[in-house]
Formats: sequence, structure tokens, C-alpha cells
Amino acid sequence: MCGIVGYIGSRQAAPIILDGLSKLEYRGYDSAGMAVFDGEHIQIRKAVGRLKVLENLTHGGETMKGYMGIGHTRWATHGAPNNMNSHPHLNTAQTIAVVHNGIIENYIPLKKKLMDKGYQFVSETDTEVLAHLLDYYYKDNPLEAITKVLHRVEGSYALGILFADHPEEIYAVRKDSPLIAGVSAEGCFIASDVPAILKYTRTVYYVDNQEVVKLGKDGMKFYSVDEEEITKEAVRIDWDADAAEKAGYEHFMLKEMYEQPKTVTDTISPRIRDDKIVIEELKMTDEELAAVKKLHIVACGSAYHAGVTGKYVIEGLARVPVEVDVASEFRYRNPILEEDSLVIVISQSGETADTLAAMRESQARGFKVLGIVNVVGSSIAREADACLYTWAGPEIAVATTKAYSAQLAALYLLAIKLGVVRKTIHEENASELIRDLRRLPDQIELLLGQKGKIQRFANRYVGAKDIFFIGRGIDYAISLEGSLKLKEISYVHSEAYAAGELKHGTISLIEEGTLVVAVSTQPKLYQKMISNIVEVKARGAFVMAVTNEENKAMEKASDYCVYLPETNPYFANSLAIIPLQLFGYYVAVGKGCDVDKPRNLAKSVTVE
Ligand code: F6R
Repeated sequence: MCGIVGYIGSRQAAPIILDGLSKLEYRGYDSAGMAVFDGEHIQIRKAVGRLKVLENLTHGGETMKGYMGIGHTRWATHGAPNNMNSHPHLNTAQTIAVVHNGIIENYIPLKKKLMDKGYQFVSETDTEVLAHLLDYYYKDNPLEAITKVLHRVEGSYALGILFADHPEEIYAVRKDSPLIAGVSAEGCFIASDVPAILKYTRTVYYVDNQEVVKLGKDGMKFYSVDEEEITKEAVRIDWDADAAEKAGYEHFMLKEMYEQPKTVTDTISPRIRDDKIVIEELKMTDEELAAVKKLHIVACGSAYHAGVTGKYVIEGLARVPVEVDVASEFRYRNPILEEDSLVIVISQSGETADTLAAMRESQARGFKVLGIVNVVGSSIAREADACLYTWAGPEIAVATTKAYSAQLAALYLLAIKLGVVRKTIHEENASELIRDLRRLPDQIELLLGQKGKIQRFANRYVGAKDIFFIGRGIDYAISLEGSLKLKEISYVHSEAYAAGELKHGTISLIEEGTLVVAVSTQPKLYQKMISNIVEVKARGAFVMAVTNEENKAMEKASDYCVYLPETNPYFANSLAIIPLQLFGYYVAVGKGCDVDKPRNLAKSVTVE
């Protein structure tokens, strides 16, 4: 979802900007553009489609000479992806250039006012309003113009701004959209995310909401919206740029699936001490935790699916009621949050607009929010009252795999911890659960070893029209995620159903040969699932079962079986997801889809 990079320093800006934008490709985009100050004028180049097109157009940036510039990858919201709507946007005199990630919610009245004053617009975007509004307020003092604009606009933004008559400075500012700034001996940088500038510097500042940064060749200064200078601490980034590369795998998604054993280990190990779950980051005593009467889990997409699993596991182990909501629904449904409720938001990116808004809504009502977040220093991580990091490292493929697995692991930790403090789990049960938790990484590894088998099976379904996923209880939660993985990357229509619900309508879609993936990991529900399988097979379905080794009856009941190693039923989702991820991945590969960057999708959904 829109990426921003800016540079000012002793090197040519355009190649650095292009390189930085390429590291933000994972965010999703459909056009790209750059503005570089050539010593006299602001030069602009834009291109629709992949960043490669902009690279070719500018010969890798060579044809745009200059030591300061800003660049942008655009994920279209207001207006189609075309050169008019692509960023950077300019004022009419072409002396101010702006790149923007986010949405200016009151752009229509602002646009009208500016038009009444004679400003002419050339694009359909909300961003162009900013260029003209800056022009309107600009009287030789960029900082003053920017802060005046900030007082007028509503919505979310991370902005990079150039002023032609201040050729020694770049300005940047953010509200609710991610932005970092970096400094090196060769100049200063802004970017939407750390990987964009990691090649050049490891000294990074996380820009806070409504802070303005002035970047020069030799350093940067931070200001509040009242134009007062503020002091900020730099953060040293110690993770490796290589972690964000493919390391020989055909796709980031495959690499990330293979990183899942490590991800789960990294998420659970630091929180198990002497056979006990210790989650210091919760910032809650055992007594406070035991006093929690209800949990509200709020998230989007796969993170929401992790939350659905979390509900089953937490309610089962800790006997505390859990409500799970899609963030975009939660924030507008005026939810009833009772006293002693704890809100948990789950997010890989930590920047998902709806999740962030749901968190703030809960905090505004006086509730504590625990974030389960992957991206260190992201907005949710910083603003949550407590943050439990999922140590999955940078996830590049748009379709989440390893971060999802880490989210499940974090929720299991929480469930056991809650169970222990609420005394719904005895000590020896807790030890057994912890033992099973520790075995998950090796078991995931084992399942990843079955990729050849799953690939051969998936190849039979590259032409499929519809695929259904069914399961009961916790297996319904994993069906939701399996179905999403398949459809988002392979574009095969798919639905997930609670198995018992299928016959209330959807079963009419089953035709001769329709694939139904039946997940059955819960011993107490084996027999019920077999009945559902019989129902769909009677209508012509071909059934792939994902079940436990002990469930021998499934061999006969289904057409194709994938067996999972034995674990505690509460943790089965962590194993069942592996064949489902591999299946979705290989259907997409078989169809020749752009697996890491599926159409219409963005890695980080920073708009509502
Ligand atoms: C699907 C996927 C998305 C995200 C969702 C939330 O593979 O990745 O459904 O899970 O957009 O994103 P985060 O976790 O960054 O809040």
C-alpha cells in the first residue's frame, strides 16, 4: 500500500530512490514516480505498472540528475492508476512536489475551496490537494506552510515534500501512516519501512504522529506541529538486510513457509522459562490477568483467522469468554466492552488502518490493548498498552504464512498463561502443553517435507473453478485461513464453511469433481466430520482430508489423505495450516500467478 522513499545527500538521488522503492514493492502498488531537483527545477518521471518500467524510463535513475529527491509507489485509491494520478504531485508553478501514503478524508471541501481561489487540478487524487494547499500557505517558510496544512487536513498521511527554492532540504511528516527517517555519512533518508534504506544506514528514527522532519545533507531536525524543535532518539537496526532476500527460494512465500519452524521457535522460546510461560511484555501481574473477565480479539484477514483459532484455544484452556471481530466491523459497531475486558489486536504489519483505529477506539474508551505484532516499532506496537512481538522477521510475500504461524504461537502462549493464572489448567497439564508447544517446530518441518506430494496433488487443481474448505470447531478456523491462502494467490474461487453449516445452502454448489478439503483434527469431532464428508461425496465431491495419523477411518471416507503428526488438539491448527499453505501455493505456481504479489492486494493495508 503506497511506499515512500526520499534522499538528500552527496550521492545521486534517483538510483537510491529506485532501489529503496524496490524494497517496498511488497507493500503492493500499481504505478510509481519520482521527483528530483536538478539544481534549477523539480524533474518528474512517472510510470504505470511495475517499478521496472520507471527504472527503464530513467535508465536506472541516470537520466534524473540531482542530489535530492522523493519517490513513490502508488496503490490506487482515488482515481485509476495512470500518470496523472501517480505521485509526485505538483503545485501549478511546479515548485513544490509531494508524495503521499494515506487518505486525505476532507479533500473534497478543500479542493472546492482551492478551486474557488483559482487553483486548477489535473488529477483525481486526494493528494493533489496537498500540493496546492502548500502552495497557498507557502511564504518562503516550508515549515510554516506544512504545519498550516496539517491543521487543515483530516485523514492519514505520510508525506515527502520538496520545495524548489529550498534545494538543501526535504521535508516529511506523518499521521497514522508509517514513516521512518535515516541518517548516514552520505546523507539523509525517509522511507515507509526500514528495508528501503537498510543498505545505506542502520541509524533510524521512527517519526511519530504529527512530527515534521527537515532533512538536510548533513543531518535532520524534528519539529512539532507548533513548529517547536523536538529531540528524538535514534534506533540502531540490528537485523540483517539479507533476511529480506529470497535466499535461493523461487518465491518469498515459499521461503517464508520454510521459515515457520524458526518463527514458531523464536516466538515461544523466549517466553518459556523453567517450564513456565513468562510473558513480561504483558505488563500485567498474574492477579491482574486472572481478573480479566472477557477478551476481545480484533484483527483483519489472516490475523483475524488467527484470532478465531485463539478464541477456541483460549476459551477451551482458560475458560474466559472471547469475542473475535473483524477490525473494520468492530470500529463501527459500537461494541459493548464490559469492565475488566482486555482488547487484543493482532497485526503482522502493525499498520493496518482498521486494526489501528479499533485499537484507538478501545483505548479512548479506557480499555487496555495488547498488541500481537510482528513489525518492530510499527504504529500498533508503539501505541498499544503492551506489545507481544511475534518474532517472524520481515515478511515480504503479500500472503502471510510465517507471521500467521507466529500469531498462533503467541495466542497459545497467552491461552496457557491465562489458564494457569485462572487455575483452569493444572501445573502438570501446563507442562504437557508446553512440551507439545515445543514440539511444533519439528512437526512443521516434517510437514514441509511433504511438499512434493502436495505439489503433485495441487497440479491436478490448477483448472479448478471452486474449492471448498470445511471443518468443525478449531478446524473451521483453519479452513478460513486455508481458503484465503488459496484464493488470494491463485484466484481460484474458494469458500470455507463450518462443516455442519454446508447443508444449509452451500452444498448446492457441489458438483461432480468439486474439490472439498476437509480438515479433521479434533478427535471428538472425527465422526461428525465423516458424516459431512459422506454428504458432499454423495453430491460428487472429491475429498482431500487433512487429519491426524490415528484417524484411520478417514482413509476410507475420503479420496486423498494428508496426515498430521500427533499434537494437543488445541495446537493442531499450526500443523494443519502447512499442507493448506503448500496447496494454495502450488495451485498458484501451476497457474503461473505472481505468487508474491497477487493482483489487487497490498502487504500493508494502511487505508480503510
Ligand atoms: C492474507 C494477509 C492479509 C493480512 C491482513 C492484515 O494472507 O496477509 O489478510 O492478514 O491484511 O494484515 P496485518 O496482519 O498486517 O494487520
